[in-house]
Amino acid sequence: MQKRRIVVTSALPYANGDIHIGHLVEYLQTDFWVRFQKMRGHECVYVCADDTHGTPIMIRARKEGITPEELIAESYKRHTKDFDDFEIEFDNYYSTNSPENRDFCATIFSRAKKNNAVFYKDVPQLYCPNDKIFLPDRFVRGTCPKCGAKDQYGDSCEKCSSTYSPADMEDARCAICNTGKPEIRNSEHIFFNLEMFRNYLANWLTTHVAPDVANKLLEWFGEDSKLHPWDISRDAPYFGFEIPDHPGKFFYVWLDAPVGYMASLLNWCYKKGKNFDSWWNNPDAELYHFIGKDIVRFHCLFWPALLHASNYKGPTQVFVHGFLTVNGEKMSKSRGTFISARTYLDNLDPAHLRYYYACKINNTTDDVDLNFDDFTLRVNSDLVGKITNLASRGAQMLNKKLDGKMGDMDDEGRAIVAEFRSRAQTIADHYEARRFSQVPVEVCRLADLANEYFDRKEPWKTIKTDPEATRQVLTSILNMFRLLTIYLTPILPRYSEKVAVLFGEHAYSWRSLDTDLENREISNYEYLAVRVLPEKVEAMVEASKAAAPNPQATAEPVEPLKPEVDIEQFAALDLRVALVENASTVEGSDKLIQLSLDLGALGKRNIFSGIRASYPDPSVLNGKQIVIIANLKPRKMRFGISEGMVLSAGGADHSQLCVLVPAGDAKPGDAIG
Ligand code: MSP
Ligand code: ZN
Repeated sequence: MQKRRIVVTSALPYANGDIHIGHLVEYLQTDFWVRFQKMRGHECVYVCADDTHGTPIMIRARKEGITPEELIAESYKRHTKDFDDFEIEFDNYYSTNSPENRDFCATIFSRAKKNNAVFYKDVPQLYCPNDKIFLPDRFVRGTCPKCGAKDQYGDSCEKCSSTYSPADMEDARCAICNTGKPEIRNSEHIFFNLEMFRNYLANWLTTHVAPDVANKLLEWFGEDSKLHPWDISRDAPYFGFEIPDHPGKFFYVWLDAPVGYMASLLNWCYKKGKNFDSWWNNPDAELYHFIGKDIVRFHCLFWPALLHASNYKGPTQVFVHGFLTVNGEKMSKSRGTFISARTYLDNLDPAHLRYYYACKINNTTDDVDLNFDDFTLRVNSDLVGKITNLASRGAQMLNKKLDGKMGDMDDEGRAIVAEFRSRAQTIADHYEARRFSQVPVEVCRLADLANEYFDRKEPWKTIKTDPEATRQVLTSILNMFRLLTIYLTPILPRYSEKVAVLFGEHAYSWRSLDTDLENREISNYEYLAVRVLPEKVEAMVEASKAAAPNPQATAEPVEPLKPEVDIEQFAALDLRVALVENASTVEGSDKLIQLSLDLGALGKRNIFSGIRASYPDPSVLNGKQIVIIANLKPRKMRFGISEGMVLSAGGADHSQLCVLVPAGDAKPGDAIG
């Protein structure tokens, strides 16, 4: 068999959210496929990364009072832990916020530019004067111009599904500060000329994606319709890579995200001493992207065109899968079916989801349904009842009654084992073609044969009358079980490792199918899989409901109001705008931060404020204007004198406080009422 060189990717998860069971439809099937290729002895690397750039991440970090770098470092930890615990084994898991990625983006852009594939054009953009930021359409809200539904996105209405431009909304407002009225500002953007690649793409699509995916995309290739140019730049402030020679312009996150595949591979090459070109640009090397159907446009139009424009090799195939539904419906926070990877792990065994998804996933773009009753049934009756029971019954009896020593197989058992082995090519073909759901079908059919043989031989009876014949039967059973395990290894890697230990073997490869195990000792049987308890599924759903934001259900107990005050008492407080010149932590205190403030004509102030938990890195406040009570009696504290009080608001637990920020035109020292 010819050794292949294969690079495989899954789409890069956004760094501003946790991995959930929908994502896992993708990461698990990719892992199945990669593990299968490795078992076959091919050179295969699986690379991925966090997708770290863009407006939502920048805004999320602002809201949390941390830097985007801190935010993405935190989610990197969470994501990699989730993937590890789900037995998803990347050869490299990297970040798009990396030097390798910056370099590739620069190269790709400059080559595309040299090939005249980019142009510049002024475009009107929405801008929030409060937040001083250009707003993506999704960050504008207002009344739908078509049906009048309130509080809709700036680009489309969830009520009537019409699409429009935010400019059509009379009451458009910024969704970040909820007050700013977006202004329209003109700005020069950089566009990638997709139309230039019309013929290349039309050709490419017919051979690099499944026909249904190609046909859908080809609908846009009508004779009189041009392919829309793709806007690849965004204006500062933006968390991403500044475009070389274009100060204040940044690569749009969807440009640098797929380039992140290359960056992760290059980073792997550095670590392993490999040559990037012999993995990416080598015509004999294969490159596969696994993606969901929502991001087809990016991977099957922009990406191959961009690579072509910059003289890089494109993907061999893009494998597109459907979306997860739970009990036949879209994942839903209120129903508790929007389940994070962590909540799943807190309640159930990752191997169960791996096995169940394998039963459900194939090479089409159909949605994948996780039905909890079906899940429980398949795991309990097939994985545990049919498959694992062969080992737990067979190995335990051999250990207890026959010194754990395997003998020879009997003729009948040997014939069944041969039948098992004869399915190897078919099963390999299913894996190769990503018909994963066919693998458990094949395996369960074989397991039925093994169980039928087991029950007919009644070893629990013959053990008393004919121990040596029983040893033969158990030896046959264990050989059958072993072959089933090898077939399931890409799906159940840790399970498979335990089985190898039981038989005193190394990790299984596809070649391991060729051996019979006879006349050798086995180890103690350790449990391989437990049954799914329905109450655990229930608990997982309840925990997911609790995690969902539901204002009524999760309302904190209300703090009773203090006695009324007069307006005079309120007016006695002098609220002023202050500019933070420097905010720092306080040595010896984990509650306080120290603020050096400028109040304009009123001079400078020093204030200690107990908001450290909300601002672990106080320097994010530097240069911001805040609101203070300026006529509070100075107070001597252990660390110095505090000359006023900072106003902030937020959650009751005081870890999510946010300082009050005056409107954009305020100046230090201004009075506020
Ligand atoms: N960051 C982009 C991908 C950039 S790739 C250069 C993104 N991230 S994502 O976190 O939203 O999704 C990552 C992958 O998970 C995508 O392929 C997406 O289709 C898939 N899924 C996300 N939710 C899903 C379901 N509910 N069901 C199945 N797959 C889903 O898109
Ligand atoms: Zn705003």
